[in-house]
Amino acid sequence: MMSFTGQTQIYGIIGDPISHSLSPLMQNAAIAAAGLDACYLPFHVPSAQLGVAVEGLRALGIDGFNVTLPHKQQILSRLDWVDENATLIGAVNTVVCRQRCLHGYNTDCSGFLRALREDLQFEPAGRNVLLFGAGGACRAALVALLRSQAQNLWLVNRRLDKAQGLAQEFQELFPDQQISAHSLQDTTYRQLLSQADLIVNTTSVGLRGEDLECCPLERVKAGTVVYDMVYTVVETAFVHRARRQGLSAADGLNMLAAQGEDAFFLWHDILAEKGLMKKSLHAWRRTHSH
Ligand code: ATR
Repeated sequence: MMSFTGQTQIYGIIGDPISHSLSPLMQNAAIAAAGLDACYLPFHVPSAQLGVAVEGLRALGIDGFNVTLPHKQQILSRLDWVDENATLIGAVNTVVCRQRCLHGYNTDCSGFLRALREDLQFEPAGRNVLLFGAGGACRAALVALLRSQAQNLWLVNRRLDKAQGLAQEFQELFPDQQISAHSLQDTTYRQLLSQADLIVNTTSVGLRGEDLECCPLERVKAGTVVYDMVYTVVETAFVHRARRQGLSAADGLNMLAAQGEDAFFLWHDILAEKGLMKKSLHAWRRTHSH
């Protein structure tokens, strides 16, 4: 049972909807394990209230908060400082409040990279990566992969213009790496699958249990790693198929834990107990998947 004092540090998450968020579960587990006098709460903030909510959090002296849909982009202009990667991505998911100054970070980006390295032993430097999607989740993955020196990045999207825009924007910033855009409708991208070292699903396909059918895995080379940013209450169909084929694969639940651990470190200046957030998310999965 948690007990609070006048010194209890308050953290939380803002989003709409928020009741489904798993962040309070894993953050409070890590706070308890570290013996911190702190708590982490969900705040339901509709878009029209974002400005007053952020000023309210500042006025209340909240110590830090996560930001989830639909506020990750809109919050940038309301912060006092935004770190370089979050600026490049155009999205903030973690805010640290220091003497009522609000500092924005993107731990989806750092968490994705850490999950790739720690859970899948994948090091992006010099590698070929094929990404499905060209939305906000793709931007975070792209910055993580470009910063860690991935060599070829192939963006495959239903709307080709969005992938082209993204490729052009980042190609100018990272001229030594190759970024190209491909249409999902034109199946020539399938030839790239056999040359990919890493395949990432950044689309929302899979949220309703459906498979990422546009990604056949029969011809991928052995050792190709699959990352699905989607998570559901059971293992996603795409990850299930990849694992059945003997490929190393992880889904968005690992990334959720990794971004949470990185936020925890930014706020508390200590590491969360290793594996604890992941463990609480997998326990949630076990109790809700029946
Ligand atoms: P997020 O911020 O989570 O990335 P988003 O910006 O809405 O969300 O992007 C969703 C991505 O999933 C987009 O790349 C979208 O493709 P389009 O840009 O062509 O719309 C992709 N997506 C969503 N549903 C899809 C589907 N049924 N098939 C293929 N791609 C899909």
